[in-house]
Amino acid sequence: MTQTNVSTRAAIAAKHWEGQDVTELLARSAAVLPAISATEAGTQGRSIVFSRTEHASPINLGGGIPDPDSLPVAGLQAAINKVFETTSEPALRYGGIFGFEDLRAVVAERQGRIQGIKLSYENFLMTHGGSGGIDAVCDTFLNPGDVCIVERPHFSGSLRTIRGHLCEVVEVELGEDELFAERVEETLQRMEAEGKHAKLLYTVPDHHNPSGATMSLAVREKLVEVCARHRVFIMEDMAYTELYFDAPPPPSLYAVADGHGVIQVGSFSKIIATGLRVGWIQARLPVIESVGRVRFDMGGSPLLHRALTLYVGSGDLEPHVDMLRGIYRRKCDALVSTLREHCEPYLRFEEPAGGFFLWAECIGATAQDVAEAGAEEGLTFAAGSNFYKDREAADTSHVRLALSYASLTELEDVGPRFLRAFQRVVD
Ligand SMILES: Cc1ncc(COP(=O)(O)O)c(C=O)c1O
Repeated sequence: MTQTNVSTRAAIAAKHWEGQDVTELLARSAAVLPAISATEAGTQGRSIVFSRTEHASPINLGGGIPDPDSLPVAGLQAAINKVFETTSEPALRYGGIFGFEDLRAVVAERQGRIQGIKLSYENFLMTHGGSGGIDAVCDTFLNPGDVCIVERPHFSGSLRTIRGHLCEVVEVELGEDELFAERVEETLQRMEAEGKHAKLLYTVPDHHNPSGATMSLAVREKLVEVCARHRVFIMEDMAYTELYFDAPPPPSLYAVADGHGVIQVGSFSKIIATGLRVGWIQARLPVIESVGRVRFDMGGSPLLHRALTLYVGSGDLEPHVDMLRGIYRRKCDALVSTLREHCEPYLRFEEPAGGFFLWAECIGATAQDVAEAGAEEGLTFAAGSNFYKDREAADTSHVRLALSYASLTELEDVGPRFLRAFQRVVD
């Protein structure tokens, strides 16, 4: 094509398109979601509004990002090199919608061992992280207008996905653990009295994001029973399950139900690296096959799947996860003790038993004011309102502090900085 042709066509295209507001053309599923700036989203993701800070030595308690020094770079590099040396051609070709079969088998063996159940590769479909799994489950089972139950508070990323599927979201208070399943049942009964049926319940039972809470076995058993009786699918998000500090959490909802009515979503993000973008759906065969029907993206990366098969299959992941548990336990201890020492009158919280988050209630000031004053002190963290459907209308007092990314030395300085932030805003 000549240069003149290009510029003529470009001029025609510009004449018709210039000035068109693309947001007027959005699908309904995109239009219900808040706008996002591609330049500002950066590398942290998009779901959390971080307080911006100009501080010379900022401390990042914002996102659920793994400890940067723990990333197993050498192990992953060796595995990728080995793939190139041995099976480069299939690794660089499409790999199919379910993912590399050997990786599915390795994950099945590992999850079977961790959860104490029998699983085969057929129970797994590999996805782009846990969030890709959540999206694929929603694509497969949710119609616009379907009702989904979520915990209150809940992980904001999953809420975006569910809302993006034009579903009605009903929140059930997480609150005190013992009565959670009863609250779910009351909600279902109330809805059914109005002629409504919930299709799906989304839960993070272990080291919850944002609350840090872990569901007891009794509640798991009751929840499985309630959801089965009302025929509500459970989507069980296992993002933080393996990252307990001392003892593993109780058996998964999937194990309690032997997989009946439970779709589990897992990920290598928090136990290896978020940049891999490799996760999975674990479910009974008909569910996995149904998810396969609606997968349009040609599957995940065969190169990464093969490398992960070598890395995870070699057993190297087990000591790595053990090491992570120690790192996060020490980080949690450091954060808890600095907050107790410096902020006792201003912050109320329970210590998590694992995972990345400490959920704290601010006393005498709103979370938003504390977040803004915290930014002046170089602290970046999320106000709790991010984790509710109705945002500020629902919660103005909590903050979520991620303990995973900051160094131990930085964490030790969080208490004094928080204290100064509170002193700026408490009268
Ligand atoms: C509870 C929960 N689920 C899922 C995800 C998504 O993680 P990924 O898609 O990286 O596996 C996150 C990330 O923060 C999370 O906190």
